[in-house]
Amino acid sequence: MTRILVTGGAGFIGSNYVRLLLERSNDEIVNVDALTYAGNLENLSDVEDDPRYTFVRADIRDAAVMAQVFDEHRPEVVVHFAAESHVDRSVLDATAFVQTNVVGTQVLLDASRRVRVARFVHVSTDEVYGSLGPTGRFTEDSPLQPNSPYSASKTGSDLLVRAAHHTHGMDAVITRCSNNYGPYQFPEKLIPLMIANALEGRQLPVYGDGRNVRDWIHVEDHCLAVDAVRRLGRAGEVYNIGGDAERENIVVVRQILALCGGGEELIQFVTDRPGHDRRYAMDSTRIQQELGWRPTRTFEAGLEETFRWYVDHRAWWERVRSGAYQEYYQRNYAGR
Ligand code: NAD
Ligand code: DAU
Repeated sequence: MTRILVTGGAGFIGSNYVRLLLERSNDEIVNVDALTYAGNLENLSDVEDDPRYTFVRADIRDAAVMAQVFDEHRPEVVVHFAAESHVDRSVLDATAFVQTNVVGTQVLLDASRRVRVARFVHVSTDEVYGSLGPTGRFTEDSPLQPNSPYSASKTGSDLLVRAAHHTHGMDAVITRCSNNYGPYQFPEKLIPLMIANALEGRQLPVYGDGRNVRDWIHVEDHCLAVDAVRRLGRAGEVYNIGGDAERENIVVVRQILALCGGGEELIQFVTDRPGHDRRYAMDSTRIQQELGWRPTRTFEAGLEETFRWYVDHRAWWERVRSGAYQEYYQRNYAGR
């Protein structure tokens, strides 16, 4: 039994990770989350009564509060998911990205060092490597060339984790994963946005020519990879995680339309995202060879399963799409 402090456990990937740990291990989980627009306790309503699970509403930017949380719960391991995670929002305003992703990560590193956490797992992204041309894949040795305020702030956090390992000898590991999809993803991201809009008969806003490429991975495969790194990864190492499923955005959108029986007339090509990265693709050889992890789902099977989940959980996404989400949608998409 390990006492694991998970940050951002009320978000998309964090909630899937907490559920996976509770199902497959005997570990104790402390979920620290500020419940921003992206955090939703409903994502974990099925496990909230589990005696091995504790929720703490707290902001990782607050050093005094984090010191108290770490003193009280004395975690052995930290798995750090909490972040501002949406590129489009970082284009509209980068402030929260710097505060949570950069400052918040340093606050956690300091709190972890003070109570001598045995391992700090930092969950990062392929976007730190920038954009690829038509060929090649990112390896862990690819240069860090972030292009958006989001990816720049994640790169900043990766470098702080690297420094904590190098300077203070902290046992820290970094994972960098490609685009996730699956249950409980906030419908501002491509796949859940397109599914929800299609189910409501609304237009599907495709940026630019729709030929940007992402390497899609099911969230459960990402969570299994993070957990393999937590248990078996080498201290100070970086592990790339990819789904081996490169698809152009327009192909994904058409697959979603086919699943819901919607017509092509719903597709609306809109003004491109500023600084839009053209292509991501991950080389996951290191984690596959060293830790024996590999993705378990094909993209087509995972997408269909995810589509069914959104059909069956319409009340969930209708609720998260009400209120403040509408204001963001207007700001991001009006006049495009
Ligand atoms: P998300 O936006 O769904 O969830 C983020 C969570 O962090 C929310 O629960 C939110 O309330 C919490 N949070 C935000 N600011 C906080 C703060 N200051 N203090 C405490 N909690 C705070 O994000 P996600 O898509 O689940 O991503 C989780 C992590 O994985 C992020 O670090 C992201 O960079 C990384 N990542 C995401 C993807 C992807 O495709 N979604 C891919 C690779 C890496
Ligand atoms: O690559 C990993 C990253 O994937 C994570 O680090 C981020 O947290 C996560 O948000 C995601 O970033 P992207 O910008 O790639 O994801 P998003 O779902 O926003 O967009 C995927 C692609 O779809 C991208 O090329 C932009 C395009 N897109 C997106 C939206 C929201 C559209 O064409 N229309 C849209 O409305």
